[in-house]
Amino acid sequence: MDRNLYWHLPGVSQAERVQRNRHRAGVVWFTGLSNAGKSTIAHALERVLFDQGCHTFVFDGDNVRHGLCADLGFSADDRHENIRRIGEMARLFMEAGVISLAAFISPYRADRDRLRDRIGRERFMEIYCRCSIAVCENRDQKGIYRKARAGEIRDFTGISAPYEEPVAPDLVLDTEVDSVNACVDRVHTLLQTRGIVTGSTAHI
Ligand code: ADX
Repeated sequence: MDRNLYWHLPGVSQAERVQRNRHRAGVVWFTGLSNAGKSTIAHALERVLFDQGCHTFVFDGDNVRHGLCADLGFSADDRHENIRRIGEMARLFMEAGVISLAAFISPYRADRDRLRDRIGRERFMEIYCRCSIAVCENRDQKGIYRKARAGEIRDFTGISAPYEEPVAPDLVLDTEVDSVNACVDRVHTLLQTRGIVTGSTAHI
């Protein structure tokens, strides 16, 4: 369908942004059950990257659903749309030179595969925060697992809605066992390996 839309080329190139920022842009996508540690690790990593001088931003499921995705619920269709929107947002942030850290259950493999295609596999990192449902349920500070078990929340991931484990993630974090700092170190190492940032405080 011709909607008379035209793609405007940027006046500032990616190379110029990299030169000024002294790091590359990318999307670090954390997936896993609720309470698996996605947001905690994303925020801790953001602190490290920020202190290193990087431009970075955390997209968090609970936060985004207060605004940009406030119209969406937890049906499969709404979750597809939630992830699609955040993916597009992260893509725009990437064009702006930012390292986005996205923490969403993102339970469907097809959605995550679409993100990889849309963002580009060299810039997209899928991080699986692996944690058993029993441990996630034990960390239930928000009381949502209790409500889900009581039938007060429908379509709850891991209980009454599916979670499809990643088949070939870029990294698996064993958040049942490993500390937050250990997980942050591993993701930071991956960012270095991918050439997004350099080690310690010196950047590209
Ligand atoms: S996603 O499936 O679309 O990726 P998202 O990460 O945005 O989910 O939101 C998950 C958060 O919403 C959970 O941390 C929890 O606080 C809340 N929530 C409310 N209802 C549900 C539900 N049915 N299933 C999962 N999480 C829910």
